[in-house]
Amino acid sequence: MSKPPLRIGIVGYGFMGRAHSNAFRQAPKFFDLPYEPVLKAACARNEEKIKKFAENWGWESYETDWRKLIERDDIDLIDIAAPNNVHHDIAIAAAEAGKMVLCEKPLAMNVAEGEAMVAAVEKAGVPNMVWFNYRRVPAISLAKQLVDENRIGRPFHYRATYLQDWTIAEDVPQGGATLWRLDANVAGSGVTGDLLAHSIDTAMWLNGPIRRVCAKTETFVKERVHAETGEKMPVKIDDACMFLAVFENGAIGTFESTRYARGRKNYNTFELNGADGSVFFDLEDPHILQFYEYKNPTTGRKVEDHLTGWRRIHVTNFEHPYMDHWWVPGCTIGYEHTFTNAFADFVIGLKDGGKGTEPTFRTALETQKVCDAVLLSARENRWVDIA
Ligand SMILES: NC(=O)c1ccc[n+]([C@@H]2O[C@H](COP(=O)([O-])OP(=O)(O)OC[C@H]3O[C@@H](n4cnc5c(N)ncnc54)[C@H](O)[C@@H]3O)[C@@H](O)[C@H]2O)c1
Repeated sequence: MSKPPLRIGIVGYGFMGRAHSNAFRQAPKFFDLPYEPVLKAACARNEEKIKKFAENWGWESYETDWRKLIERDDIDLIDIAAPNNVHHDIAIAAAEAGKMVLCEKPLAMNVAEGEAMVAAVEKAGVPNMVWFNYRRVPAISLAKQLVDENRIGRPFHYRATYLQDWTIAEDVPQGGATLWRLDANVAGSGVTGDLLAHSIDTAMWLNGPIRRVCAKTETFVKERVHAETGEKMPVKIDDACMFLAVFENGAIGTFESTRYARGRKNYNTFELNGADGSVFFDLEDPHILQFYEYKNPTTGRKVEDHLTGWRRIHVTNFEHPYMDHWWVPGCTIGYEHTFTNAFADFVIGLKDGGKGTEPTFRTALETQKVCDAVLLSARENRWVDIA
């Protein structure tokens, strides 16, 4: 029997437009979904480019104005894969039109925008999710499972880094495709919203809310040519950000992010140290979760002998998160599968009449609050509390 359709309209054909399109095509092949995703229409302002993108990925049609996309009554879900400055307007218009909404991270440019977006999806009662895709890396999902199984015990330390090196050259312009990340008017912030938002989402998923932060940001290259005007303009984003955090559960944390760590391309790591165990993850080694067991919560046995040590768990067995949907044990999956796993969770969540799949807009707003507090702390050179 054929499944009811889930008709999708996407905004954006760039990096995430491709990652999401791939997920929409792959998810029904590898997961038993209650709905059949239909790639109904893709949207961006450049007609030639969006037409080519739509043809390449099998989108049935295209639009050049996102308002037209939202007006269409043959679309159930709007997916926002466009820069941060348009998330707010598109998400609110989509919710008001009764569409489900998927939105890329960070949720918004700031908390005020994020609150309005949460209010809109909740008022409309439409399912929603933010693409914090790293939650769906099987090794990170396994870390969450270990925390939930109480294998870490009382948490003391959380340590996250997210390092890249692609903006070191002073002649990299700001603005335009991809480089909008360097333009504060489009990105909202620099590494804080772009990279640390991921680290903060993962941290709070694993270790609960962050209640206080103290941050230092730096902008190493003060002026860059704007790609759209050709003029040299001040750079208003944070090139690097380091902050201290106090978690509600009493643990303390450090977070560091930069685009100036020569040799680091997408070095996203975290370590959580508790009384009974520790976990460590590095995205450059994405199939491995490192786990140190000091005390087993089931047997109560302390693991203190000549074989004590860190384990490198190759997270590819059928019993590991998501892996029973993919290949045989030992065969790895990649970056793109995190989006497929996330989308599959979202569609499966619809079966239960779910109003959203984690992380929902409301959950992502908590990350936005931490990002805003970090930037305020850096500006005012003081600790900032998060309500
Ligand atoms: N989850 C992740 O790991 C991850 C990774 C990269 C980017 N992102 C997020 O995804 C979003 C998009 O980033 P990207 O890397 O795909 O950017 P990109 O520059 O590669 O693509 C952006 C797309 O948005 C389109 N666009 C811009 N303004 C538009 C408008 N007003 N109307 C219609 N289309 C518009 C552009 O034409 C382009 O197709 C951002 O919010 C970014 O933070 C998330």
